[in-house]
Amino acid sequence: MLLTTQQLFKACYGRYAIPAVNVFFMEEIHGLFAAAEEAQAPIIVQTTPFARDYAHAGMLLAMIGAAARIYPGVVYAVHLDHGYEEHIYDAIENSGYTSVMIDASHDDFDQNVSRTRAVVARAHEKNISVEAELGVLSGVEDDLSVDAAHSFYTNPAEVEAFVKATGCDSLAIAVGTSHGAYKFSGGQGLQFSILEEIRQRLPGFPLVLHGGSNVNPQIVERINAAGGQLKTDAKGVQDDEIRRAIPLGICKINIATDTRLLWTMVNREFFRDKPEEFAPTTPGKIFMDTYRKFMQEKFDLLGCSGRA
Ligand code: G3H
Ligand code: 13P
Ligand code: NA
Ligand code: ZN
Repeated sequence: MLLTTQQLFKACYGRYAIPAVNVFFMEEIHGLFAAAEEAQAPIIVQTTPFARDYAHAGMLLAMIGAAARIYPGVVYAVHLDHGYEEHIYDAIENSGYTSVMIDASHDDFDQNVSRTRAVVARAHEKNISVEAELGVLSGVEDDLSVDAAHSFYTNPAEVEAFVKATGCDSLAIAVGTSHGAYKFSGGQGLQFSILEEIRQRLPGFPLVLHGGSNVNPQIVERINAAGGQLKTDAKGVQDDEIRRAIPLGICKINIATDTRLLWTMVNREFFRDKPEEFAPTTPGKIFMDTYRKFMQEKFDLLGCSGRA
């Protein structure tokens, strides 16, 4: 059943969270839907502009639609991740998406408000939910001190006015994570005092955590043992941080890096161990199966198994 993210968040707020997984190719979509059907877990399938360029938006949406027919029990939303206006208006008009993100977080507050508001007006006409972002995620880099990095976190004093002025349905916040495999080089971790303050100012309002991958050290180790060269300070969000964030209003946890690491691990190990092989379907099957199991563990962590 295809729902909006707003409908999904209404059911989960404060109790469990829903994984929002970036998909790029067919094997991921199979693995994701197979896992969701088995676990009876709601999911958010999301595509970035990069994914739409890579595979073509029509191809991705057709595959997602096919998966929904192959796995008819799945409760899901289709979301545009990190969209700009060109992608958003295309996603709204060429239906298939039930949710879009407008990422105007690099603009100043007023500009962010006005761009988000315009998107909300168009999306809501078609019953499509809108995720907006306040605070700058990617600004937290290795070479910044924690103090300097601080200025990129979402300012809790701004959240109420932002949500009120824009009419957005959920809010992505910057509370210490960044995208990719090296999130906490500065050792900062998730900023629970900021998250708590945001929740107090926006009680009951769905919050979104970008950069939600765990970057499991065992997987990093296996990749490197199979010829990879990931750096040793690869680090993601810890499971107990995820558990703590959910009662504080985090409803959607974005995951892309973890599934890429899985793909890399499966393929590196496969071709290391079977150098005579050249059929993509053999590691493809292993990948789908590994992905399915990985997702089931995520569902359990987020508390969404059995909630669909
Ligand atoms: O949050 C964004 C995605 O992880 C970005 O990845 O642009 O390679 O799809 P991508
Ligand atoms: P990760 O890099 O932690 O997987 O974050 C993904 C994300 O936020 C996609 O929008
Ligand atoms: Na998003
Ligand atoms: Zn993101």
